[in-house]
Amino acid sequence: MSIVIITGGSRGLGASIATQCARRGMDVIITYNSNRQSAETVVGTIEADGGKAIALELDVSDSASLPAFRDTVGEALEKGWAVKTFDFLVNNAGYGLYNPITTVTEDEFDGLFRVHLKGPFFLTQVLLPLMADGGHIVNVTSATSRVATAGVAPYASFKGGLEVLTRYMAKEFGERRIRANSIAPGAIRTELGGGLTQEFEAMLAGQTALGRVGEPDDVGRMVASLLSNDNRWINAQNIEVAGGYII
Ligand SMILES: NC(=O)c1ccc[n+]([C@@H]2O[C@H](COP(=O)([O-])OP(=O)(O)OC[C@H]3O[C@@H](n4cnc5c(N)ncnc54)[C@H](OP(=O)(O)O)[C@@H]3O)[C@@H](O)[C@H]2O)c1
Repeated sequence: MSIVIITGGSRGLGASIATQCARRGMDVIITYNSNRQSAETVVGTIEADGGKAIALELDVSDSASLPAFRDTVGEALEKGWAVKTFDFLVNNAGYGLYNPITTVTEDEFDGLFRVHLKGPFFLTQVLLPLMADGGHIVNVTSATSRVATAGVAPYASFKGGLEVLTRYMAKEFGERRIRANSIAPGAIRTELGGGLTQEFEAMLAGQTALGRVGEPDDVGRMVASLLSNDNRWINAQNIEVAGGYII
């Protein structure tokens, strides 16, 4: 039995990653920030399917709260599983913001930085002592780091930073046989940044070899598969999950 922690598991990609991991036999700890109800629904779906899941509150942008979150995870592992370690961490939590470079405010910049780069960095740091040797970290980056997309410069820059950080994680944690990879979704139909308008979605579909935008399960299935032993020799990679976006 493996235990996976997925940040931002209450909705969108995180919810799909959670249910797909559970379908492959993993036990799941999801986190939510503001949507406790949605998180409970995800837990309920997994339990109804015969899986095991719990939901914990986490604001990944609040680095001062992370040591207390680690303690909560430690207690949950003891109470729910009678173990001291978990196996996999998926740094998925995030949000989108559209604003061109010329008008981005410092607050907007800092907010995106805290969630998309500083958060995964320090969350991984505090959780590492609880991660089993031979574990796996998956960081969710974005195809916007490869293809410049108007209006998302800070977001894409921090995702690019997370991609680099992933290689450093793989380097530094390799001595404990912990792998680190990042996955870079293209446009996926979620509520990120308020969701996709019909017009924008049609444009993105036209720029994608497979002729559509992605669904959350396109990513959820891939991450669940990446975590499995079948992919045990994949390490330090950034893998685009985008149906062939602007190729
Ligand atoms: N959708 C896409 O097209 C796309 C493409 C490339 C990359 N991504 C990345 O994929 C990840 C998931 O995005 P999504 O599309 O699934 O978005 P989403 O549907 O808006 O869900 C975002 C999730 O992140 C959580 N979250 C937001 N701010 C948080 C914070 N400060 N601390 C902890 N959790 C927080 C939310 O929790 P609550 O609901 O509880 O507030 C929610 O579970 C993000 O990192 C995003 O950048 C998405």
